[in-house]
Amino acid sequence: MNKTKQKYNNPFTATLNGIRDLFKKRERVGELQPDERLDGKRVLITGASSGLGLATAKALAQLGAEVIMAVRSGIPEKGEEVKKASGSENIHMLHVDLSDFGSIRKLVKEIKEKFKKIDILICNAAVVSKKARMAKSGFEEMFSVNYLAKFILVNLILKEDLFIKDRKSLPRIIFVSSESHRNPEKFEWEDFGKFREYGMGKSVERYGYYKLLMTTFARELSRRLNPDGHPEFSVFALCPGPVNSNIARETPAVFQPLLKLVFKLFFRSPERACEPVVYLAASKDVEGKPNDYLFLMSRKPVDEKAGNPENGKKLWMKTTQLLTRLNNI
Ligand SMILES: NC(=O)c1ccc[n+]([C@@H]2O[C@H](COP(=O)([O-])OP(=O)(O)OC[C@H]3O[C@@H](n4cnc5c(N)ncnc54)[C@H](OP(=O)(O)O)[C@@H]3O)[C@@H](O)[C@H]2O)c1
Repeated sequence: MNKTKQKYNNPFTATLNGIRDLFKKRERVGELQPDERLDGKRVLITGASSGLGLATAKALAQLGAEVIMAVRSGIPEKGEEVKKASGSENIHMLHVDLSDFGSIRKLVKEIKEKFKKIDILICNAAVVSKKARMAKSGFEEMFSVNYLAKFILVNLILKEDLFIKDRKSLPRIIFVSSESHRNPEKFEWEDFGKFREYGMGKSVERYGYYKLLMTTFARELSRRLNPDGHPEFSVFALCPGPVNSNIARETPAVFQPLLKLVFKLFFRSPERACEPVVYLAASKDVEGKPNDYLFLMSRKPVDEKAGNPENGKKLWMKTTQLLTRLNNI
């Protein structure tokens, strides 16, 4: 296995290399300008109860967006926090448990009934489980929340035609990914979707694999939504770099104090780390682009496996087969 592939494979190397990545010199994409605002735009963001999602919700509200926070917890207090931080009252909260596909369907129904349409969707929520767990969906939890839920949510929103398409700017679908999507050597096509046991030692590796699935899905989605060279949707992905969030909440209690200290000292605050998410949501520089990927505030190609159209097609087919069997889409 080549060395770069091992960068984010376990909690220790992931933390160390995440910190090292922060100090590498890279060319920035640019700055959001004062006139790049989101007044009149409606944004749906998942996982807005904590960390990066919560900070993004505040920043988007400060830019004038109407923000729908789709959350599993924190109703109503996290919404109140966003209102207070942004000075905006245009904040709404809807409940969703992304490990339960019925709950995702309910969320989409509620969006349709209450808001009719949205301009921007940010798929931010994710989990790092300490061990393999069966979710309400009938699939392993990380596979379910970090990949399948995104596939279902996006496709249901598209099926219900909930994106506003008659604006000057294209609808934007933004996936919060991770550089760890580059780690896996290959796709596990043979037993795709099958419950796999893993423990703490392998959870970061599994997390990287599901980020690969999500990033491959993002690229395939962009190809499918923009088939003839005239972009109709922007499908973006990004890695925010290491964030001082609650992502490592399932780390064993004995390591928590040290981890919290390392996160606090070296990782970025969610307020700072959300810059690429906010940039991709609001910047005019990326207007009309069918796809893009940022690592921190620098443009990068996605991993070759994720960008490969054959892999994208195969992933779409395998996922559809898996979900159709369960009548989930
Ligand atoms: N932290 C990092 O260093 C880092 C690095 C690269 C990428 N990222 C990515 O950044 C994104 C945000 O993570 P974070 O770092 O901000 O972690 P976080 O503080 O743990 O936030 C994760 C969010 O996802 C939500 N979530 C988890 N499972 C859910 C479920 N079943 N249904 C609905 N919501 C669920 C959580 O809700 P609850 O509050 O209810 O649990 C929380 O709001 C993730 O996609 C993560 O992979 C993080």
